Amino acid sequence: MYDLDHPLKFGIVRLCKEGEFMKLLVTGGAGFIGSNFVHLARKERPDWQITVIDKLNYAGNKASLKEVWEEIEFIEGDICNQELIDGLVSKNDLVVHFAAESHNDNSLNDPWPFVESNLIGTYRILEAVRKHGKKLHHISTDEVYGDLELDDPVKFTEHTRYNPSSPYSSTKAGSDMLVLAWVRSFGIHATISNCSNNYGPRQHVEKMIPRQITNILSGEKLKLYGKGENVRDWIHVDDHNSAVITIIEKGKSGEVYLIGADGEKNNIEVFNMILNMMGKDETWLEHVKDRPGHDLRYAIDNTKLINELGWRPKYTDFAAGLQATIDWYTNNEDWWKPLKAETEAKYKKIGQ
Ligand code: NAD
Ligand code: DAU
Repeated sequence: MYDLDHPLKFGIVRLCKEGEFMKLLVTGGAGFIGSNFVHLARKERPDWQITVIDKLNYAGNKASLKEVWEEIEFIEGDICNQELIDGLVSKNDLVVHFAAESHNDNSLNDPWPFVESNLIGTYRILEAVRKHGKKLHHISTDEVYGDLELDDPVKFTEHTRYNPSSPYSSTKAGSDMLVLAWVRSFGIHATISNCSNNYGPRQHVEKMIPRQITNILSGEKLKLYGKGENVRDWIHVDDHNSAVITIIEKGKSGEVYLIGADGEKNNIEVFNMILNMMGKDETWLEHVKDRPGHDLRYAIDNTKLINELGWRPKYTDFAAGLQATIDWYTNNEDWWKPLKAETEAKYKKIGQ
């Protein structure tokens, strides 16, 4: 029996069987993308039962789940704890694995937490998935492919050679390899997605866009690394997560899907948009030390996801999405203010 006309589906045709994927374990669900995933899933798939596991590191924030708090189960814990993970995986149908140390600058300062959470943590999840015969969707990044030249028309595809640059991206690359090996050697059911740079609400103030917005809101200058020529392929976090829902429902085990929304922009362009939208001039821009090994350009070819699974991004107007993000930070000082001083103190130590 296929559940094509359930009244709670908001008109979205679903191809999974009644009852399938009902119980989701979302790792890292108190972080930026994970919490937005929980919000989107509650809205679009209200019959999914969601358990979040998050160790609440500096980027994990229970306040990011406050609107859905009564509708989910929340476990504060570490994915590296095999016993805990084993028990949680056994009670769920599918693991959506967002948990990771996620910031390149931190990985250059202290790589160990990245090796621990991103590699050992993923290994623990894979072992539990294998033992209990459950499904996994592994969230990864386009940074596993390294970078592209600024003037090269080429984009990353699912066939691009892995060539990570930073401790962060190398641990994500390693975690992808573990997943593929567990599919091939042990026959687990798993899919992987590699997405480009996300923006939107509830992103930690260490990341580029929220850092600049909250700097202006705090009366501080914007901090641009190097010359600002580096290109990132921006995607709204809800587009990333709608693609994840599509892959969960329609993706094939063992397959890798790139997620991107044709949002290439260089950093200086994005900084100028933030300045304009927030009514500031160029005197608010400060050039700071460049990131060591700074990747030049990321760009995603999303053909496979569009052609094979029929996904389409909704938030393709970057200026509108950026304005909405500025509005969110302007209206949610309680969320970001407690994080700001500590984050800037960390940056100050490394001259950024
Ligand atoms: P984030 O740092 O905002 O959130 C990560 C969350 O994982 C935090 O809540 C943290 O407490 C939790 N966590 C970390 N280690 C853990 C552990 N050992 N046990 C339990 N919880 C743990 O990161 P994000 O930007 O939301 O990224 C989420 C995922 O998406 C990551 O896997 C990242 O590699 C991937 N990704 C991010 C982007 C992006 O632009 N931010 C793009 C593509 C892919
Ligand atoms: O491509 C996906 C990746 O995008 C994810 O895997 C990572 O988890 C996520 O953090 C992001 O990585 P980046 O390193 O690209 O993002 P970040 O926001 O740190 O930086 C974006 C660009 O902006 C990069 O070229 C560095 C630059 N930058 C960053 C900061 C924090 C600045 O110029 N100034 C800043 O203050």
